[in-house]
Amino acid sequence: MITHRPRRLRKSANLRALVREHHLHPEDFIYPIFVVEGVGIKKPIGSLDGQFHFSVDQLSEVIDRVVKAGIPAVLLFGLPDPALKNELGSAAFLKEGVVQRAIRAIKKLAPTLVVMTDVCLCAYTNHGHCGPLLDTRVDNDKTLKILAKMAVSHAQAGADVVAPSGMMDGMVSAIRAGLDDQAFMDVAILSYSVKYASSFYGPFRDAAGSSPQVCEGELAHRKTYQMDPANRREALKEAALDVDQGADMLMVKPALAYLDVISDLKTNFNLPLVAYHVSGEFMMVKAAGKLGLLNTDQAMVESLISIKRAGADLIISYAALEVLETLKGRV
Ligand code: PBG
Repeated sequence: MITHRPRRLRKSANLRALVREHHLHPEDFIYPIFVVEGVGIKKPIGSLDGQFHFSVDQLSEVIDRVVKAGIPAVLLFGLPDPALKNELGSAAFLKEGVVQRAIRAIKKLAPTLVVMTDVCLCAYTNHGHCGPLLDTRVDNDKTLKILAKMAVSHAQAGADVVAPSGMMDGMVSAIRAGLDDQAFMDVAILSYSVKYASSFYGPFRDAAGSSPQVCEGELAHRKTYQMDPANRREALKEAALDVDQGADMLMVKPALAYLDVISDLKTNFNLPLVAYHVSGEFMMVKAAGKLGLLNTDQAMVESLISIKRAGADLIISYAALEVLETLKGRV
């Protein structure tokens, strides 16, 4: 006799729905948006299906879609005028910078939408690294000062959450101090605590124009500041440091290739945990779908639910809008 027959609970769609352990809700998502200088621009990003470069005046359509889908937050990435890029990345904290203007515009369009901003210098430096260089390295402590100024300028424009992604040591405490000093005690920090030096960022770097421009030695990549994909225990150390420095939320990035790390952070820390379903992870499914190798929508939902199952509370995903619009609350 077979006593246990797990298949009993898989017999029908409703039974399966009753015993389903994880769901995707609109509130689980943060939607990334790329903003560019200029006027009247809504240009498809070749490397990222369904994503656009928007000039600030063109944001209303996408913001409407985000609000209608019930997504509570957007994450802004800025592409500054290339002429403003310099060794320090100092265009990152201009009052009239593209991100600062976008924050103000979005707060007018949708005052209750949570506006998060990427705080990193790679799109603002002429060498494409996440901070000014010192010999063959990114100068950690000099970068911190610029990141703090950048975060304050975002807060001044109305950002609710700043998200430092440069993997500089001490970035959370430097930004916290900068914000508090200007009386932005209520602006939260979502730290990209555990960010790996990953190949899966390829399509994003194309979209953001933020690839390292140097082809030699330790400057040809970001391995001197982003984590080694082989390391698991070190993720706990990085997260603990950010918790100590006052991070409000933690992030693991990428997501799919690092589900073990998401699970580890969920078990060991009690802060909201965000996972970044990155550009390469998104585009692999899109590309495979185009080749007729799999069903894109189903594979995308399966990817996203696996990220939740691993322990993420929130997911940053380029697929958020299309998935929610297709599902209309059905998963
Ligand atoms: C900037 C940044 C990157 C991503 C988010 N913020 C690129 C990088 O570190 O090179 C990648 C996002 C994605 O691939 O979707 N530091």
